[in-house]
Amino acid sequence: MFAQDVLEGLNEAPKSLKPKYFYDAAGSELFEEITRQPEYYPTRTEAALLRQCAPALGELMGNNVSLVELGSGSSAKTAILLESLLESSDELHYLPIDISKTMLTETAEGLDARYPELGVTPIASQYEPGLKRASTLVAEDEKVPDRMLVLFLGSSIGNMSPDEAIQFLKGLREHLEPKDAFLIGFDLQKDVGILTAAYNDRAGVTAQFNLNLLTRINSELGGEFDLDRFSHRAYYNDELGRIEMHLRANDAHDVAVQACNTAFPFEAGETIHTECSHKYTRGLIADMATQTGFRVREVFTDEKDWFALALLTPA
Ligand code: AVJ
Repeated sequence: MFAQDVLEGLNEAPKSLKPKYFYDAAGSELFEEITRQPEYYPTRTEAALLRQCAPALGELMGNNVSLVELGSGSSAKTAILLESLLESSDELHYLPIDISKTMLTETAEGLDARYPELGVTPIASQYEPGLKRASTLVAEDEKVPDRMLVLFLGSSIGNMSPDEAIQFLKGLREHLEPKDAFLIGFDLQKDVGILTAAYNDRAGVTAQFNLNLLTRINSELGGEFDLDRFSHRAYYNDELGRIEMHLRANDAHDVAVQACNTAFPFEAGETIHTECSHKYTRGLIADMATQTGFRVREVFTDEKDWFALALLTPA
């Protein structure tokens, strides 16, 4: 729960908050705006990669496919893949899995209208139980192709620590059959200037996105954060291979949060760690696959090697 997580996170040393709380209505819109910033390369690079690798995926998966997407959101990027697979397949079914029911319903209705020949089964759930439900459904329902291509795009996996990512992939692996495949988007390690710029866009949208977490605590939990006394910080942690986002207190002061029944003391320069965004290498991707019961079938990358779509199959 939000209040409990804020209480725990702000009592820790160093202070931290979970990135999942970025995404209230305002935060989700700010994230969409981030993806349109010139410095934020991941979204458009991944979209181009999807367009490029779609025919190969169609060939690998054959004519009857169930496309299962973890964290489908608005399914904007997936439409690229759907369109290409629709051309090459006899039967295509789409099973978006998301915790946001409203988003899912909107997405499903939009897709039904746009692609009448596409079957859509939205699953409102967390990822692992959602995939479990999808795998049962494709096995039992005759109208749904039983071969799954599971998507986990947007380098969402970057928010997890390497250990968390391994546990997560192991859990998913249990719901896949040898004929299934898994496509994961990874942001790759690159020039630090490029990485840093992507999280410090000139228009200040990422800063707004980060600070919105405090606005959310103020409005939902009766917090008294003064946004003028905090600043956005994002830098590359070379040792751990990740971008870290922080909110830094400009001066020493206490901040009361009603729902937590307490005030949190801040020292001048003290930060709240709000996000990790892990950056991968081909080697790290391969190691992770081996450790989780997968085989790397192919790694699609752009010509600059900035982003990777890794196609994994059960080992
Ligand atoms: C949605 C987690 C992939 O890590 O790049 C973008 C979130 N944070 N800018 C990322 C984010 C700041 C994004 N992910």
